[in-house]
Amino acid sequence: MSYLEFNSSLKVENKLIDQEHAVLIEYINLLQKAIENESSAKIIGQVLEGLTEYTKTHFFVEEEMMKAFDYPDVGQHKSAHEGFKGKLTELIAKYENGSVEITASALSFLKDWLTEHILKVDRRLSDFLADKSFR
Ligand SMILES: [Fe+2]
Ligand SMILES: [Fe+2]
Repeated sequence: MSYLEFNSSLKVENKLIDQEHAVLIEYINLLQKAIENESSAKIIGQVLEGLTEYTKTHFFVEEEMMKAFDYPDVGQHKSAHEGFKGKLTELIAKYENGSVEITASALSFLKDWLTEHILKVDRRLSDFLADKSFR
């Protein structure tokens, strides 16, 4: 499975949002690497925790931007974030009690969700912020 690459096609042209997306993608790639290398459950668990914590931080930052600029689609955007946080939390809980492996399909889900969210939902937010001269 190929790694996700943070290239210009994934940029939404907002400095902070782009920086944070690059970090999120690194976390997902690190998770893939740990799985491919058959790292210990402890290491994989730590990467998963790191990914989840950083995801929460990133979502919070975007939500604060939405609040600060009275973004009209805040409800929809936030509920997309909530859904993904829920999935991650569920995945960690199952992983930590030993009931699942992190499979290729779980990894694909993370990659596909993030890519699609960036391209559709975050890009819309970024365009709105650009109109307010916040890039
Ligand atoms: Fe978002
Ligand atoms: Fe985002």
